[in-house]
Amino acid sequence: MTTPTFTPRVFSGIQPSGGLTLGNYLGAIKRFVSMQDEAFETIYCMVDLHAITVWQDPADLRRNTRELAAGFIASGISPEKSILINQSQVPEHAQLAWIFNCVARMGWMKRMTQFKDKAGKNAEAASLGLFGYPALMAADILIYHATHVPVGEDQKQHLELTRDIAAKFNHDYGVDFFPLTEPVIEGAATRVMSLRDGSKKMSKSDPSDASRINMTDDADTIAKKIRKAKTDPDALPSEAEGLADRPEARNLVNIYAALNDQSVAEVLRDVGGQQFGAFKPLLAELAVSKLSPISSEMARLMADPSEIDQILKRGARQARDITAPILEKTYEIVGMVR
Ligand code: AMP
Ligand code: TRP
Repeated sequence: MTTPTFTPRVFSGIQPSGGLTLGNYLGAIKRFVSMQDEAFETIYCMVDLHAITVWQDPADLRRNTRELAAGFIASGISPEKSILINQSQVPEHAQLAWIFNCVARMGWMKRMTQFKDKAGKNAEAASLGLFGYPALMAADILIYHATHVPVGEDQKQHLELTRDIAAKFNHDYGVDFFPLTEPVIEGAATRVMSLRDGSKKMSKSDPSDASRINMTDDADTIAKKIRKAKTDPDALPSEAEGLADRPEARNLVNIYAALNDQSVAEVLRDVGGQQFGAFKPLLAELAVSKLSPISSEMARLMADPSEIDQILKRGARQARDITAPILEKTYEIVGMVR
C-alpha cells in the first residue's frame, strides 16, 4: 500500500467550561498563534460538545464559548489565517466520533487518566460522554486529517489514543486513510502548575482562585496572586539543574521564560542568585504587560458578541468544506449505503 502524504495541518481545541487560565495560554494558545505563521493550515476549536460531558449551565456555556473565542482572537489567532470554530457547528465531528466509538476498545478507554481524575471516586455516576470523550477528541482531529496537534502535557495520552484509533481503523478496513497525528508538546510551559501547590496542574476547575491566573484578572489581582504564590526560602539558582527538586520555584521560572520567549537557562542567567522578594515583582510586571492587552481586547470583543458569532459561522462553513468529504469517504470505506 502506498503511504499517502497528508498536507501539514494543525488542529487543536479547548473546552469552554470556564475561564481561560495562564496554563491554557502558555501551554496551548500562545503556541497556536505561532503555528499560524508556519507552513501549516490551522484550525482551532471551542469544544462545546466535550464541555457538556460534565454539567454546564446553558447560559454559562454560551458565554464561556464566546469568551474563549474572544480569548483566541485577542491572543492573536486571526480569523483570516486560521479557521476558528465551535465544535457543535461542524456536525461531522460528532458523526465521525460514533464510528470511532466502534473502533476504540473498552480496555483502551479505561486506561485514560483524565477520565479517572474527572470521574473521581464515583465513576458509576459519571456520564457516558465523559468515558467516550477521547473518541470524540480523536474525531475532532482526524475529521480534518490533521497531522499536528499542539497541546499541553496533560493531553499526551489522548493523542496516543488518537493514533491507536487511526491505526486500527486503517488496519481493520485495509486502507491508509487516517494519518498518525503528531503531538506537539513544546516550550517552557507545557505544564503550568498551581500557584498554591507545585505538584498540581494549574486548572480552571481548582476551587482556589488564588491557585491560577485567569486571563481576565486585572493587573492588581495578577500581582497579588504572584506575590502570594508558594515558594521556598532559597535564592534562585543560576542553572536549570538547581530547580530539579524545587517544583514551585521551577514553575515560576518556567512561566517567566514562556511569557518572555526565553529558555529557562537564559532566564536564570539573568535572575540567578535573586531572592523571590526581588523576582516576584519582575514576574508580576512581565505577566501584566503580556496579559493586560489580551484581557482588554477580550472585554472589547465581549461587549458585542455578534462579531464573534459571525466569525464562528464563517469558520464552520470553511471547516465543513474539509470535513464533509472526509466523512463521506469514511462512510464509504465502512460500507454505509450513500
Ligand atoms: P482544557 O482547558 O483542559 O480544555 O485545556 C486546553 C489546552 O490547554 C490543552 O492543550 C491543555 O493541555 C492546555 N492546558 C491546560 N492546563 C494547562 C496547564 N496547567 N499547563 C499547560 N497547558 C495546559
Ligand atoms: N481534551 C482537550 C483538553 O481537555 C480538549 C480537546 C478536545 C482537544 N478535542 C481536542 C485538544 C482535539 C486537541 C485536539 O484539553
